[in-house]
Amino acid sequence: MKDSLEEDLYVRSPLVEQQLTKVQQAKGKVTYDALVLDAKLRQSLVTIRSLGRRGMPVAAVEIASLIKQSSHVPTFASRWCHHAYIAPAYEESTHPFVEYLLQLLDDTGVRVLITSSDGTLAVLREHRQELEKRVRLALAQEPALALALNKDQTLQMAEQLGLGVPRGVMIKTVSELAAALREIGLPAVIKPVASWVWGEQHGQRLVCQLVTTADEARLAVEQLTQDGAPVLLQQFLSGKREAVSLLYAHGQMYARFAQWAKRTQPPLGGSSVYRQSIALPEDIGQQAERLVREMALEGYSEVEFRRDSVGKPYLMEVNPRLSASVEVAVRAGVDFPYLLYQWANGDRIERVPGYQVGGWMRYLEGDLLTTAQTFTQRGRPGVTPPAQALLEFCTDFLTPSGYDYLDWQDLRPVWVAVAESIDRLRQRLGKDFSKLS
Ligand SMILES: Nc1ncnc2c1ncn2[C@@H]1O[C@H](COP(=O)(O)OP(=O)(O)O)[C@@H](O)[C@H]1O
Ligand SMILES: [Mg+2]
Repeated sequence: MKDSLEEDLYVRSPLVEQQLTKVQQAKGKVTYDALVLDAKLRQSLVTIRSLGRRGMPVAAVEIASLIKQSSHVPTFASRWCHHAYIAPAYEESTHPFVEYLLQLLDDTGVRVLITSSDGTLAVLREHRQELEKRVRLALAQEPALALALNKDQTLQMAEQLGLGVPRGVMIKTVSELAAALREIGLPAVIKPVASWVWGEQHGQRLVCQLVTTADEARLAVEQLTQDGAPVLLQQFLSGKREAVSLLYAHGQMYARFAQWAKRTQPPLGGSSVYRQSIALPEDIGQQAERLVREMALEGYSEVEFRRDSVGKPYLMEVNPRLSASVEVAVRAGVDFPYLLYQWANGDRIERVPGYQVGGWMRYLEGDLLTTAQTFTQRGRPGVTPPAQALLEFCTDFLTPSGYDYLDWQDLRPVWVAVAESIDRLRQRLGKDFSKLS
């Protein structure tokens, strides 16, 4: 175990080296205020930067299987990332990953462990007791977490509270599909009840699929239920996508924030690639708060809604972890990663009275892909006509916007992200356009 810790890849700037030496001299061993898992995710970079620029020593971890796919990890290149650790993958067996993490926590001192991916979250939940002997997890308590990670249960609770929820039917096998389609109609969305499932061979992240024909629906249900996990067949809603982010603890809301996504990747939704901070809409602001209180979901949560064609909001899901879009909140003045840290560490939590409305953030790689997909998915429900999409993609450069990864005080991650994006776009665009020919 020691060997693998010592051999791992690391990136340190001279400034970080100096700070680290001071920390080591003072404590006898390295102590991090936070260890940020899932380093490849955008929200992990945002977290490292938020905490790091406050002078807090922080380090990041990514699993080897993701590093293999592309060796570029923007978070590892941040001037504030004191150390970059590469842990064994957990998709096939969680044991080596958990061993590595426990050893790392024993060898260093870590106050708070922050995770943002559905997969890592699933692993941490399974080993919560052992971990909590060593570190504070920036996660809600288990009953609330279990509720939030099950979309069916979340929607049932929301319905009881009077929130709008999409008309939907739960399906366990493809034999139940025909009856469900008669009830819901087409187009529809096939949505996994849980985003992460442990199959017989390995764990995997499942994503929603838009279906327009019975054949497409059958294929999607076959694929998503192959590990025995149920799915929801939901009515398709075509309106605005809005999300409310909250920091809730001790019966109080410390921060509230809202954003809408003009474009998402994939076009159905998932990751918002062009988004804007907005004033808290009264309807979903109150609904999100009521739901989070009822769930007793402490810490950070992002409550996602989508409106129908006449503007009525419907609940999509509740994410009980930092979401990829969180930087738009941080730039608007709501530093959720820091608030999350304060809450997890048992510190006094700063109350955020308000934020700047109207700021745009753009994730250029995702935006390029989504624009390309308007050509390959032309004519499907909710997909902007390609010519309009291309025009908007270009003219949106005229609107002042922040760009994911770009921070003038911390430039190295953006170069790493560009190299990574070129690699990935070459593969993805090649795949998308080969479908056309
Ligand atoms: N019933 C639906 N109608 C229209 N869009 C939907 C529907 N369900 C999901 N979506 C879109 O897909 C995105 C992803 O769905 P979500 O439930 O949030 O699952 P995930 O866990 O993949 O984020 C949503 O943000 C939304 O934009
Ligand atoms: Mg979502």
